[in-house]
Amino acid sequence: MKIGILGSGRGTNFEALFEAIQKGELQAQIVLVISDVEKAPILEKARIHKIPYLYLPPGKFKTYLEPSIEADYIHALQNHGVEWVVLAGYMRVLKGDFFRAYKGKILNIHPSLLPAFRGLDAWRQALEAGAKITGCTVHFVDEGLDTGPIVLQEAVKVLDEDTPETLHARLQKAEHRLYPEALKLIAEGRILVKGRRVVIKNSP
Ligand code: GAR
Repeated sequence: MKIGILGSGRGTNFEALFEAIQKGELQAQIVLVISDVEKAPILEKARIHKIPYLYLPPGKFKTYLEPSIEADYIHALQNHGVEWVVLAGYMRVLKGDFFRAYKGKILNIHPSLLPAFRGLDAWRQALEAGAKITGCTVHFVDEGLDTGPIVLQEAVKVLDEDTPETLHARLQKAEHRLYPEALKLIAEGRILVKGRRVVIKNSP
């Protein structure tokens, strides 16, 4: 299972996946890391781990990529033999060409129990809504915003004394368990997508 990772930020989920692979818990290979943010720590982490990495400037749009740049992403991913695209803190919405090239093979991790709190700063949204429980979700990516079929979720309690920062930190701990677990199920061929529902099989 050859993975390409897209990230815009710190890259702690990338690191969690890298560690799971190193420990032999996940049979996969990270073959490329791409960021739309030149100074994103995820690129420095890729460099330290000796994984090929690339900064691709995003172009003039704020939330998505220019079509020609999206083509550059696809080209780079295909050139590195990427089979699965794993979004790890990637803050842009992907468009049509991406889905044609990697249909059903794009995953994301989101810091809420979807379908609650889609979009930006989901941990802050949970606090502001007064939720007592939130969590994280690994899901397939479709053309909507955080709308694709859900693979796995983990619940995290919201504590009275939580700030956005403390809640996000606890959510990230859960994310670092959940993402490798979800990818392991995929690597083992145990995931079956039936419409909006994802069934986990006991054996391939
Ligand atoms: C993670 O908490 C991830 O769930 C979130 O960004 C953070 C990236 O952290 N993603 C989104 O909000 C996407 N909608 P990381 O760079 O340390 O992995």
